[in-house]
Amino acid sequence: MNRPKDRRWVAERLDIGRELVYLTRADCTEVGLTRDDILQLTEDALTAHGRGEYEMPAKIGVHPYEDVFYHAMPAHVPAKSAVGMKWIECYPKNPSRFDLPQTTGLLILNDVESGCPVAIMDATWLTAMRTPAVTVLAAERLHPGAETFGMFGCGVQGTEHVRFAPRALPGLRRIYVHDAVEAAADRLIETVGPEIDLPIIKSDEPREVVESCAVLCSATVIQRKPLSVVRDDWVSAGQTILPCDLNTFWDPAIARRADRYIVDSADEHRLFDEMGYFPDGLPPVHAETGEIIAGRADGRTSPDQLIVCSNIGMAVCDVVVARAIFDLALDRGKGRILPL
Ligand SMILES: NC(=O)c1ccc[n+]([C@@H]2O[C@H](COP(=O)([O-])OP(=O)(O)OC[C@H]3O[C@@H](n4cnc5c(N)ncnc54)[C@H](O)[C@@H]3O)[C@@H](O)[C@H]2O)c1
Repeated sequence: MNRPKDRRWVAERLDIGRELVYLTRADCTEVGLTRDDILQLTEDALTAHGRGEYEMPAKIGVHPYEDVFYHAMPAHVPAKSAVGMKWIECYPKNPSRFDLPQTTGLLILNDVESGCPVAIMDATWLTAMRTPAVTVLAAERLHPGAETFGMFGCGVQGTEHVRFAPRALPGLRRIYVHDAVEAAADRLIETVGPEIDLPIIKSDEPREVVESCAVLCSATVIQRKPLSVVRDDWVSAGQTILPCDLNTFWDPAIARRADRYIVDSADEHRLFDEMGYFPDGLPPVHAETGEIIAGRADGRTSPDQLIVCSNIGMAVCDVVVARAIFDLALDRGKGRILPL
């Protein structure tokens, strides 16, 4: 799983330069990657990032409406022979307007030796997988003995976060969940509850979740103006906060006063700052998540530290997971071979 197939192996299954494989969402889901595989692949990608062994320019994008973005996310991770680009959209009102996901997208994977595209795949599943993997890998390093995990937002991301959390935090005893739409929290509990051996407690009160949990994560909406649902005075020393929704859900004062403000990519966060997503300014960055995973920067050095670790999503993780999906798909005859 960890070693990508070599070019000759690929060429025996695909006429590189003349064909590519098209993988639907179902193909990606059914290709055989487990959540433990995803954790390992994501850890490898973060480690490569932390060591500086990658190329990944900050996202460029277009913004047809307020609070909507499309991002082009290219990356190359040499150790994984993984090169490609994800083209991802975020439309926060999609669920209510069209009954469609907020986040959809496609990923193009290339043959690094010739540059030829070798796959086009749906990027929804890999995004839903690698995002919680980053969160829980960070939580594992920053708060290894955590007994409580709180999840804000019970949609696609929230649901997967609750599935992933016990894998990286084996000391967990309880998980709290909150969603503005109660039915979303109910759905999460109904689906994930039977899969994990932990109580999942629904709370209508964000404050209760904050005050009950050591590790907290949010995956709600990303918008320029912070919602500041969680107030600064609810948060206490020693907690670890892992937003996937940038600067939206938490009072920005929390990240500013945190003992450590860690981000997956300083470049990406600076870009969002330039686009107006940090109206109070980007807090000083202590380190990047990959540097913590690679052991190149310290994470938590005292139990009393308040740590905020914001992971907005990195293409290095996408292309590494996509490369594994591609190899498995070729091996198992999944997907449709199309002429270029
Ligand atoms: N960091 C990353 O790498 C990454 C990757 C993918 C998605 N995201 C972001 O994660 C967020 C969630 O994505 P998703 O695909 O799970 O969306 P989703 O629509 O499936 O779920 C979002 C959930 O958040 C809830 N919610 C919205 N506002 C809320 C509020 N104020 N309080 C409580 N709950 C609220 C919604 O009711 C919904 O159930 C989005 O902002 C998305 O852009 C981040």
